[in-house]
Amino acid sequence: MSDSQSELSDPADLFAYDLAAALDMETKLVDALDEMARRVTNDNLEAGFEIHRNETERQVELVEETFERLGAEPTRRDNHLVDGLLAEREQFEDRVRDEELHNGQYLTVALTTERIEITTYEGLLRTAESAGFGDDVTEPLTGVLEQERKTHRKLQGLADGTDGQGLWEKLTEL
Ligand SMILES: [Fe+2]
Repeated sequence: MSDSQSELSDPADLFAYDLAAALDMETKLVDALDEMARRVTNDNLEAGFEIHRNETERQVELVEETFERLGAEPTRRDNHLVDGLLAEREQFEDRVRDEELHNGQYLTVALTTERIEITTYEGLLRTAESAGFGDDVTEPLTGVLEQERKTHRKLQGLADGTDGQGLWEKLTEL
């Protein structure tokens, strides 16, 4: 973990600081998505979580590659946003036995996670621009952001039932 007390004096410092939190987030999400895929009883959600788990493994590498492009060692810093989200998921897990409620809540957790990730990468790219970093540094993050947006669209489609089938109908299809 990086030293959370070190002073951040310019956009380049802030970029590395936020990148360390992104690396922690993606690393924790690999295990979390594994667990989530095992917990849901809906096939669409299970498949979606499994696919995104594999994508997330690759995202860990892409964030590490961004550190390398900066000429820095990949570093992790505790990301309390993702810690909170995962703690909420665990707390909920012990309380709900109903399958529809359970699957519906997992869809909400997944959508929340994607929104946090999208906002994280958009912020990182803004900071990179302020720091004067070009595509040679940010290219891996642009790829991750595209993947997160695509995942969010797929989950939102499931939530909206854009193929004409309602969410609850889909979630009760076992
Ligand atoms: Fe991710």
